[in-house]
Amino acid sequence: MGRYNWFTSQPYPLESPNPSYSDEEYADVDWDSLGFGLMATDYMYITKCCEGQHFEEGQLSRYGNIELSPAAGVLNYGQGLFEGTKAYRKENGRVLLFRPEQNAIRMKIGAERMCMASPSIEHFVHALKQTVLANKRWIPPPGKGSLYLRPLLLGTGPVLGLAPAPEYTFLIYASPVRNYFKEGSAPLNLHVEENFDRASRRGTGNVKTISNYAPVLMAQTTAKKRGFSDVLYLDSATKKNLEEVSSCNIFIAKGKCIATPATNGTILSGITRKSVIEIAGDLGYQVEERAVGVDELIEADEVFCTGTAVGVAPVGSITYQDKR
Ligand code: COI
Repeated sequence: MGRYNWFTSQPYPLESPNPSYSDEEYADVDWDSLGFGLMATDYMYITKCCEGQHFEEGQLSRYGNIELSPAAGVLNYGQGLFEGTKAYRKENGRVLLFRPEQNAIRMKIGAERMCMASPSIEHFVHALKQTVLANKRWIPPPGKGSLYLRPLLLGTGPVLGLAPAPEYTFLIYASPVRNYFKEGSAPLNLHVEENFDRASRRGTGNVKTISNYAPVLMAQTTAKKRGFSDVLYLDSATKKNLEEVSSCNIFIAKGKCIATPATNGTILSGITRKSVIEIAGDLGYQVEERAVGVDELIEADEVFCTGTAVGVAPVGSITYQDKR
């Protein structure tokens, strides 16, 4: 399934400044109580480039705050993208990344949509590897979680009138994580949102722009107060078809058929989503990427969510128009 075993196949090309790594095998963390909260690790990767130019090889620096102009494009106009991917420690000591080139491709597509400079695929993957190795002691023991990598692409140059920023920053930080939802691996209880839309046709729902995420907070906060795990969005045009959950894609299964909303411009093309589609097809399931009606939920055998942070999460209940 595209497991990317780079650890033994490629030497770690340390760039200056050469971080002095600790010899400790593991950071001092209670690995059994990991959730999905930020735990600052040792190093982050950072590089900048001017508009119209290419990103140069960056450097690892101590994890910490970054300085930004108050007029930075990302602060004023939301010109920013993020990615999420994970590194795992295996029993044999190897470290595996999960399809990082897919994140690189998605960032590139997003950058085009948001009029931003972006790192090449090779640069992105190389930067990820460096970040993982520099923070290796923060990768949880096998089976206890993963090191979540958060690549950011930000319009950091100052801009007052609405226009692309004159400078971009590509940064990667890391945090050890385990389950995304407080439910752990227990089934999720979703609420179908009808008052707010996540994305609109020909908008930016299909790219991982930072501006897709704050707008879901109100519905999510309300749903959580009512005891739900998260919110399931419907398409803004007809309000009849499933879109996605705030932080992950959704699938329904019936017999040997698995269906998920097609990536028609409003749905994020999740890498876990793509992987599940590929694996399910290999296992002999009929996989359909199409409009999935909210009314199909009632007939489904199973429903599950997929995402990098979320993994593959079972859904226990969905509440739609007060019907559970
Ligand atoms: C991820 O799954 O990695 C994401 O970026 C979703 C985020 C809301 C945690």
